[in-house]
Amino acid sequence: MRILITGSTGFLGSNLTGYFSKKGHDVTGSSRREMTFDFENHVGDLRDREFTDKLVSSVSPDIIINTVSLANVDECEKDPEYASGVVVDTAENIASSAEKYGSRLVYISTDHLYDGSRSWYGEDDPVNPINEYGRLKKVAEDVTLSASPKSMIVRTNFFGWSPSWHATTFGEWLYENLKEHNEMNLFTDYYYTPIEVGHLAGIIEEIINTPFSGKINIAGADRCSKYDFGMKMAELGNLDSSCIHPSTLSKSGLRSKRPGDLSLSTEKLKTVLNINPPGLEDCIRGFLEGAQGRQDS
Ligand SMILES: NC(=O)c1ccc[n+]([C@@H]2O[C@H](COP(=O)([O-])OP(=O)(O)OC[C@H]3O[C@@H](n4cnc5c(N)ncnc54)[C@H](OP(=O)(O)O)[C@@H]3O)[C@@H](O)[C@H]2O)c1
Repeated sequence: MRILITGSTGFLGSNLTGYFSKKGHDVTGSSRREMTFDFENHVGDLRDREFTDKLVSSVSPDIIINTVSLANVDECEKDPEYASGVVVDTAENIASSAEKYGSRLVYISTDHLYDGSRSWYGEDDPVNPINEYGRLKKVAEDVTLSASPKSMIVRTNFFGWSPSWHATTFGEWLYENLKEHNEMNLFTDYYYTPIEVGHLAGIIEEIINTPFSGKINIAGADRCSKYDFGMKMAELGNLDSSCIHPSTLSKSGLRSKRPGDLSLSTEKLKTVLNINPPGLEDCIRGFLEGAQGRQDS
């Protein structure tokens, strides 16, 4: 398959280009930053309709996986107008061009769409985002489906290893602090269903080999708090859990509002697509193998 991955320099985008290239697909990337890759990468701003249209028409991909976003919750709160351009305008341009040139589109969304007042959100549950990031991602989902109705919308929350040029992500920060025995506070009242990025890529690949379209949660099978996640990583990695201290989101004073429970139900994944999501232990083991691979290389 010819696959265009928009956001190729990003955390998820770089993992997906690596995964799909290794699987023998014909991968092309696109980013705003100029970078050298071992695949073709187009540089430009996807808020620009003309650039987007030229990109999609020249690459002519079977599949586009759109990972472009401003994924930082506080940045979205600080400058909603800029965030809207990056999150919504890019999504609309990519979906319009995908529809025009007959490419199937996968839009990467988030679990930040809910208010966190309950657990295990399904794809058809009403959304009620409580921060700007969540609101913009919902609008981006809507414009994607409106411009390209057969798109697949992936709601997820992932962890893994990011490329060397990328800011440290939560899983990496946690692992490094555990290794260094640094004291950390982790929330006991912030729940989610994280999936390791390699498992996420594998499930996306399985689904694009089916005719599925519409919304799908791709998440880990287990709901955990950030504190549980940290303790599990310490246990499985034989790392020092005594440096992890319980703390609460409600007393954290974070700039943007965070919902306390963003756990996603994977019932649809299991029943409609016959795919069993990995549990937390499998996901963390996958992450730890990645750490070992990095030390060996
Ligand atoms: N990270 C998480 O834990 C998480 C959780 C749930 C969902 N998600 C979703 O997953 C997706 C990927 O997140 P991520 O963490 O991989 O994001 P990221 O690392 O911040 O990557 C974002 C990518 O978008 C590109 N980009 C931004 N603005 C652009 C523009 N105007 N034109 C062209 N490219 C542009 C960036 O390119 P440059 O580097 O060249 O600017 C970068 O490659 C997002 O949709 C996010 O909402 C993330």
